Amino acid sequence: MTTRTLRIAMNGVTGRMGYRQHLVRSILPIRDQGGITLPDGTRVQVEPVLVGRNADKVRELAEKHGVEHWTTDLQAAIHDPATDIVFDASMTSLRAATLTEAMKAGKHVYTEKPTAETLAEAVELARLRETTGVTAGVVHDKLYLPGLVKLRRLVDEGFFGRILSLRGEFGYWVWEGDVQSAQRPSWNYRTADGGGMTVDMYCHWNYVLEGVVGTVRTVSSQTATHIPTRWDEQGNAYEATADDAAYGIFQLETPGGDPVVAQINSSWAVRVHRDELVEFQVDGTEGSAVAGLFHCVAQPRSATPKPVWNPDLPTTERFRDQWIDIPANAELDNGFKAQWEEFLADVALGRPHRFDLLSAARGVQLAELGLRSSAEGRRLDVPEIAL
Ligand SMILES: NC(=O)c1ccc[n+]([C@@H]2O[C@H](COP(=O)([O-])OP(=O)(O)OC[C@H]3O[C@@H](n4cnc5c(N)ncnc54)[C@H](O)[C@@H]3O)[C@@H](O)[C@H]2O)c1
Repeated sequence: MTTRTLRIAMNGVTGRMGYRQHLVRSILPIRDQGGITLPDGTRVQVEPVLVGRNADKVRELAEKHGVEHWTTDLQAAIHDPATDIVFDASMTSLRAATLTEAMKAGKHVYTEKPTAETLAEAVELARLRETTGVTAGVVHDKLYLPGLVKLRRLVDEGFFGRILSLRGEFGYWVWEGDVQSAQRPSWNYRTADGGGMTVDMYCHWNYVLEGVVGTVRTVSSQTATHIPTRWDEQGNAYEATADDAAYGIFQLETPGGDPVVAQINSSWAVRVHRDELVEFQVDGTEGSAVAGLFHCVAQPRSATPKPVWNPDLPTTERFRDQWIDIPANAELDNGFKAQWEEFLADVALGRPHRFDLLSAARGVQLAELGLRSSAEGRRLDVPEIAL
C-alpha cells in the first residue's frame, strides 16, 4: 500500500476556530488515525505546520500536541516547496491576501469563511483559482451537521413533495459584558473590525439554503442593533456599531424551478425557547421536517393532524409529540473533520472541491446585499456571479 503525505501550513491556529475545530477536532485526529484512504487503497497522511505571530504560543501548541513543525513566518511557510496546502483561520481582514499569495505560489488552499471582506475581492479569489487550477475549499460546516445531513436526505428522498417554504431560527443571548462576561469576542459587534450578524451568518445561510433547497434569487433583510452598548474583554464599555440581529426573507428556486420562500431570523439578542441554537423547518406538500444541529423530526402528510382554531378552548394537543425522529443510519463524524477528509481526497486526486471559492463568493454577495437591502429598505435581486 502506498502512502502519500500532504503538508498543511495552518495559519491562525491560536484562534478559537483554528485551534478547536481545525487542529484539535480535525487535523490531529486525521493524523492520529493514520490519514485517509483513497478509493484505490492509497493512504494519505497529513503533516501540519503550525503558523502564528506569537512564537511562544505556537511553540507551546506544537509541543502540547506533538507537532514537529511550527513557524511565525507565514510567507516562508507559503513559499516552502514542501508545503502542499495553505489553510487560513486567521482574522477575516487578512484572508484575501494570504489566499492570493498561496494560490499564486501554486498551493492548494482551504479556508474559513468569509473568504473576503468585499464581493469584488471574493470573486477575484475565485477567478485566481480558475487560472491557477489549484484545489480550493471553503468551510461549509453547517451542511455537515447531523441534523442538516438528515434534512438533505429527506429532500433527496422526495419526502417533501413540492417544497413550499423554509423557516430558520438562529440565535441566543450574548451577554453584554458588564455583569457577566460576553461569550463572543467584542470585534463581532464593531463594524470597523469586520463584525456584525449579517456578515457573520449570511455566508452560512447562503450555502445552507443552496445545499438544502435551491438558489437564492432575492433578499430582503432588516438588520438591528438591539444592544447599543457592550463591554469588551478588558471590561471597558464600547459602542456596538454592527448589527446584532438580521431578519431576512429570501426567494429561492429549486433545481426543478419551483419557487420557495425562506425566512431566517438571526439574533444575538434573543432567549432560546427551542431545542437547539439553530433550527430549520421545511414545509412541503407531502410532509414537513424540523432540523437542528443534531436532531431532525418529520411529519408526513398522512400523519398531519387537523387542528381547529378556537380561542375559547385551551390547547390540549401536544403538537411536538406528533413528529417522528429521523435516524442517522450512519456514523456522522465532526462536520469540520468530515469536510477536511473530503477536501484532502480532492487534493490527492487532483480534482475540485464541491464547496469552493465561487460558492463562498455567493455567500459574501448575500451578506453585502442583505446589508444594502436593510439600508435602502427594499428587496434586492441576487445576480448570478460570472467568473
Ligand atoms: N465556520 C464557522 O462556523 C466560524 C465560526 C466562527 C468564526 N469563523 C471564522 O473564523 C475566523 C477566525 O475567527 P475566530 O472566532 O477563531 O477568531 P479569533 O479571534 O479567536 O482568532 C483569530 C486568529 O487570527 C489571529 N490574528 C488576529 N489578529 C491578527 C493579525 N493582526 N495578524 C495576524 N494574525 C492575527 C489570532 O492570533 C488568532 O489566531 C474568522 O474569519 C471567522 O469569520 C467561522
